[in-house]
Amino acid sequence: MHLERCNSGMSSVALLVSPLLLLLSLASAELQRVQHAPKEDGSLTVLAVGDWGRGGQYNQTLVAEQMGVIGEKLNADFIISTGDNFYNDGLSGDNDTAFFKASFTEIYTAESLQKPWYIVLGNHDYTGDALAQQSPAIREVDSRWISVNKSFIVESEIVEFFLVDTSPFVLKYWNESKFDWRNVAPRDTYIANLLKDLEDALTESKATWKIVVGHHPISSGCEHGNTTELREHLLPVLKAHGVHMYLNGHDHCLQRISSIDSPVEFVTSGGGSKAWAGKFKATTDRMEFLYDGQGFLSMQLTEAEANLVFYDVTGAVLHSWGLTKSDAARIVS
Ligand SMILES: *[C@@H]1O[C@H](CO)[C@@H](O)[C@H](O)[C@H]1NC(C)=O
Ligand SMILES: *[C@@H]1O[C@H](CO)[C@@H](O)[C@H](O)[C@H]1NC(C)=O
Ligand SMILES: *[C@@H]1O[C@H](CO)[C@@H](O)[C@H](O)[C@H]1NC(C)=O
Ligand SMILES: *[C@@H]1O[C@H](CO)[C@@H](O)[C@H](O)[C@H]1NC(C)=O
Ligand SMILES: *[C@@H]1O[C@H](CO)[C@@H](O)[C@H](O)[C@H]1NC(C)=O
Repeated sequence: MHLERCNSGMSSVALLVSPLLLLLSLASAELQRVQHAPKEDGSLTVLAVGDWGRGGQYNQTLVAEQMGVIGEKLNADFIISTGDNFYNDGLSGDNDTAFFKASFTEIYTAESLQKPWYIVLGNHDYTGDALAQQSPAIREVDSRWISVNKSFIVESEIVEFFLVDTSPFVLKYWNESKFDWRNVAPRDTYIANLLKDLEDALTESKATWKIVVGHHPISSGCEHGNTTELREHLLPVLKAHGVHMYLNGHDHCLQRISSIDSPVEFVTSGGGSKAWAGKFKATTDRMEFLYDGQGFLSMQLTEAEANLVFYDVTGAVLHSWGLTKSDAARIVS
């Protein structure tokens, strides 16, 4: 499904998730697309945060304030959430608006954050009503919130973000009674369809930058470590299609890892609230940077390069690096 490009901002987004377009996509069974125009010079600035919704607790508010400051400084175009949006058990329904407001609307209040938020779900969202976060009732409370059928594509000329629903991959969750698998079960079919849709979209993609976003890490040295099921099923797809970066949350840390046998970079931005677990796992990939505390990520993308920065809870730069298009050369460190 290809749609005419519209101007960025809330109006185009509202149009794209209209019921008519949902029907069109249903027939073609492709990942749905949201168009978000880049800046006039073709560049794009994105902030990414994960694992945050705790009514402001555990420094969620401090991280939010600094996102506002950096968002203003860099003129952020939109925000990506890497999941675990509401603790401990997601939203209880699409009428759980008080908690939604207390953990989102009333926390990310800065002017610079009044942009679309593109959302994936985490496992904690799945132990509540996992469909509530895609409901029109929630968007009516705060129209920044964009979660389309759990997996979707955000297109912005030079870059495509492929947002992938990773919780269904994780086998142990299927043994737990609390998970809301409506519209997901059976697992094998869901995963097979999702991977096929992703492969089709990646094959078609002409974007300079291909970034896949999920909740669970593929490679991680923090508390949870790598996710076996994603290494088995998702990683081969990323490698086969020249994906530049896999961005995730789940581990409450900030981390950058280089794959030892492909150009993929594994980037964790899961420091939106509770952190400092002090627990670490082994990874056989190359650890470039790890911070066990709170913070978030900015990405500035142009046709030629991507510049990424991790910030802590005070807004101080923890780590910055650059990728060139060929990805052979990693510019800064
Ligand atoms: C939603 O996603 C599921 C699983 O990927 C897919 O089968 C279905 O066609 C999608 N629905 C729409 C409306 O895109
Ligand atoms: C919040 O951040 C401050 C300042 O870095 C830190 O001292 C404190 O331990 C953090 N609180 C939590 C709950 O992580
Ligand atoms: C939401 O609606 C359900 C079903 O009507 C009800 O049981 C529940 O208490 C409501 N929750 C809130 C937060 O209003
Ligand atoms: C799920 O439960 C079954 C039956 O108790 C067990 O054999 C299996 O190992 C469990 N799987 C995971 C991934 O925990
Ligand atoms: C995955 O995690 C396990 C447990 O920490 C570790 O032994 C293994 O080396 C990791 N695999 C890779 C490929 O990083």
